[in-house]
Amino acid sequence: MIESVFQQALQEIQSRRIRAQTENERRYEEINQKIPPIAEINAQLARTSSRIFEILREGGNVQEQIGQLRLQNEQAQQFSSSLLTKYGYPADYLDIHYTCEKCQDTGYCNGVYCDCLRHEIAAIGISRMNRTAQLNLCDFSDFSLDYYKGVTDEDKDCYAEMAKIYNVAVDYASSFTKASPSLLFYGASGLGKTHLSLAIAKKVIEKGYDVIYDSIINLLSQVEKEHFGRSDPEADTLALLLKADLLILDDLGTEFRTSFNVSTIYNIINTRLNRGLPTIISTNLTYPEISQNYEKRIISRLFAVYESYHFIGSDIRLLKKKNSHARF
Ligand SMILES: Nc1ncnc2c1ncn2[C@@H]1O[C@H](COP(=O)(O)OP(=O)(O)O)[C@@H](O)[C@H]1O
Ligand SMILES: [Mg+2]
Ligand SMILES: [Zn+2]
Repeated sequence: MIESVFQQALQEIQSRRIRAQTENERRYEEINQKIPPIAEINAQLARTSSRIFEILREGGNVQEQIGQLRLQNEQAQQFSSSLLTKYGYPADYLDIHYTCEKCQDTGYCNGVYCDCLRHEIAAIGISRMNRTAQLNLCDFSDFSLDYYKGVTDEDKDCYAEMAKIYNVAVDYASSFTKASPSLLFYGASGLGKTHLSLAIAKKVIEKGYDVIYDSIINLLSQVEKEHFGRSDPEADTLALLLKADLLILDDLGTEFRTSFNVSTIYNIINTRLNRGLPTIISTNLTYPEISQNYEKRIISRLFAVYESYHFIGSDIRLLKKKNSHARF
């Protein structure tokens, strides 16, 4: 059974806490050895709770004595910090340094999920989704324009057209922000739509954005499984799709035209446009086929708002096969 996304996220946050505490203990040992006066102070501080017990047991003016003890401890701590800086350490060297100070790496703030836990849940969900995408297989550097040289398509020079698209894709990836436009890549199969989409995904992920890439079939079946409750209750693929910084839907048109799929696609396209988040859609369908296959409300959004790029040329999968036969 796969561990739930939630469990994995919580474990990651809590292992940060253990790392922070272990590092803190290591620092105490280091400083106790190097700076004996601080070791003495630490020993004094460590006796605090037993001192409080003594004070309580002895009775008398408990409040005043505890107040005094607190004052002594504060002074000792200040002295310890000043010694640390004298020895060239940061004054807070002996504090515990959590990755998330808000929840001290527990994952919870006032009984609700901390932002760091939410962020981790989303990050794990996204990386699980992208695991099948083989993001490392496609790069801008192994996209060659040579394949389009000397090829024409409906009187258009494929090389010139594809060089334009390639440059758009490179610029898009390198200047990506959450406010970047949405793109529609369309054209026959084997012309590099998936390749360029993956190259964009890879670059934008490297820039630190949350990117989800998958074929529309995989994404819809995942959403459907969760919708009908047969999956990990903590995984919410649809929510991730709606809020990822960049969503790349590959192979629009290959999905079954069920009412669930149609309404989910509309929901994704529409919600992301409303939120101003960019989406890249690629499809082997032609413009007229898109118009025939989808409802008006989807088409109007795709055509009016998405920047569309027509991929032309001859099937590169076939060209590559031919070349490899020619060589061997
Ligand atoms: N310009 C290119 N340079 C090098 N390889 C390419 C190029 N375009 C496509 N390919 C390769 O050809 C195959 C098919 O391309 P793909 O991007 O899947 O086409 P599409 O998504 O348009 O059907 C893939 O293996 C891809 O890496
Ligand atoms: Mg493709
Ligand atoms: Zn936190």
